Amino acid sequence: MEPLPPHPLPSELDTAATLLMQGRLVGLPTETVYGLAADARNPDAVRAIFALKQRPADHPLIVHIGTVDELREWATEVPPAALTLARTFWPGPLTMVLPARPDVPRVVTGGLDTVALRMPAHPVALALLRRLGRGVAAPSANRHLRVSPTTAAHVREEFGDALPLVLDGGPCTVGIESTIVDLSHDRLRILRPGAISAAQIADCLQREVSLQPAAGTRAPGLMKRHYSPRAQVECVATHALPERVAHHLMAGLRVAQLSAAAPAQPHPALVWLAAGETLDARMQRLYGLLREADILGVDVVVAELPEGDGPADALRDRLLRAAGQGSVPTD
Ligand code: TXA
Ligand code: MG
Repeated sequence: MEPLPPHPLPSELDTAATLLMQGRLVGLPTETVYGLAADARNPDAVRAIFALKQRPADHPLIVHIGTVDELREWATEVPPAALTLARTFWPGPLTMVLPARPDVPRVVTGGLDTVALRMPAHPVALALLRRLGRGVAAPSANRHLRVSPTTAAHVREEFGDALPLVLDGGPCTVGIESTIVDLSHDRLRILRPGAISAAQIADCLQREVSLQPAAGTRAPGLMKRHYSPRAQVECVATHALPERVAHHLMAGLRVAQLSAAAPAQPHPALVWLAAGETLDARMQRLYGLLREADILGVDVVVAELPEGDGPADALRDRLLRAAGQGSVPTD
């Protein structure tokens, strides 16, 4: 039996709420990845996120809220589509981009006139947000361009003593960042694929959803290289795995094969990172396995690209970015 996830004591939630109100940062579990949380109405606290992450100032943050009503505190306009999506998918791994109210600190939006909002489906995050009754800005709790954390231990490894508190909510159940949908234009667009697919959103709204961000959209999740371990990552189709692994072994490299099935041929310089059988398992394990590749000190990760739409799309997106091969939007 799996051990029960650790749960912060009520006193730790109190401490987290106090720290946030004082303008300090807290490591926060969500169902997708751990966040680096700050009071979204406190520009100095939000600036501290950018400093700690070494994140460029023009890369906007997601504001996390605990109730659907709070949408109106952040967005000038909450279109019916946003309410329908919120009622269907919240709390959950869906972020909506809406026109921002003029009083939203522009340090949160990276200077944009839109704001990204999400209600996370983690009991600890929800309890904290509802206790605060305020929006919490939280990017993934990793240094800029590094792999996102999916356990409290990952967050501590990333930031050590620089963070006064990391709430431990156990391993993230989804494992990759939320789907981002832009509702600020007539045409709905997915800015970042995630566990909730474009098809689910289109079905829910009975509207077309574009998979391509508009040309010139600014979002760090759209950079070619992101979510990267130190090892080189090469993404290949299942049938090409044995050949690519053999190629790197011949060159004298230490290789990790990240795939559903074990390598055909064992080799002393080859480790298997068991990607998982189902797409859900593959999402949940991906970032932990990329971190493990770094701990093992391999030179190259040969990663199997899953086939299909929906979650497979999101997984391919993260794997290709880890490899520095993320596709640049052309639309
Ligand atoms: O699952 C998640 O969304 C996690 C957890 C902690 O909630 N958070 C997360 O945050 O992934 P971050 O900062 O790593 O990614 C935020 C993404 C970026 O790609 C950013 O560009 C986009 O959200 N974003 C934020 N505000 C935006 C806006 N106004 N317009 C377009 N994209 C925006
Ligand atoms: Mg991130």
